[in-house]
Amino acid sequence: MAQNVYDNPEFYEGYEKIRNHPFCYNELIEFPVMQDLLPDIKDKDVLDVGCGMGKFIGYMLDFNPKSITGIDISNNMIQYAKSQIQSDKVTFHVTDALSYATNQKYDVIVSSLAFHYIEQYDTLIKHMYQLLNDNGVLLFSTEHPATTATKQEEIWHHEPNEYNHYKLDHYFDESERTIEWLNTNVVKYHRTIGTLINTLIDNQFVIERVQDTGNTRLSIEQWDEQKIQKVNNRPPFIVIRARKA
Ligand SMILES: C[S@@+](CC[C@H](N)C(=O)[O-])C[C@H]1O[C@@H](n2cnc3c(N)ncnc32)[C@H](O)[C@@H]1O
Repeated sequence: MAQNVYDNPEFYEGYEKIRNHPFCYNELIEFPVMQDLLPDIKDKDVLDVGCGMGKFIGYMLDFNPKSITGIDISNNMIQYAKSQIQSDKVTFHVTDALSYATNQKYDVIVSSLAFHYIEQYDTLIKHMYQLLNDNGVLLFSTEHPATTATKQEEIWHHEPNEYNHYKLDHYFDESERTIEWLNTNVVKYHRTIGTLINTLIDNQFVIERVQDTGNTRLSIEQWDEQKIQKVNNRPPFIVIRARKA
């Protein structure tokens, strides 16, 4: 069964603070790339998988979509998103992405940093394919395989005050990784770059863009040297845009 860590009250409280910080990784590293790669959504039906607190939905509303549906396994997340977004174009559902069933098809599916929580990647991609209209676009970010590979507790090899050796052990061991974050054991899944991309190709998607995320103009403006160095020495996320052939 899928883990629903965001409904754990202690974890959620910590996460909400991090996600609402204007200089968090999501805002400075991941979000700018998702914004860049978002296709034209004017008059389109859009699905946001693992929409969380609804940040991307709020952004997308400015581009006049026909509708946006946000789904998330966490009731906490959906309640927060509902409290932030007042638009009759938007509907929300609390559901596991793999169980989401609807007769509707979407022109664009976006998903920010949710796919690494889902074990059955091939099933997930097949499901996304079913939910898309012909020629529809799937745009998603996930933790970068270079980040999720290691099974060591200490993920950096430290020279004093430097973050120049990120560990890459167990790269080919595609399986669960449990990390401690906000005093909670969080389960995610490591896959290689080959698996991320070839699963899309095997399911009749055409790859349009693969972007390793690095520092952005915003992160360089807002962060200290040590944080910038960390991102220079390890891509935190990967963003992929693919089209249903
Ligand atoms: C790191 S948060 C990102 C939230 C949001 N997309 C953002 O960028 O702010 C990951 C989200 O994925 C959701 N999630 C995890 N597993 C899920 C699943 N199996 N089905 C649907 N949502 C899931 C979590 O509840 C959480 O809201």
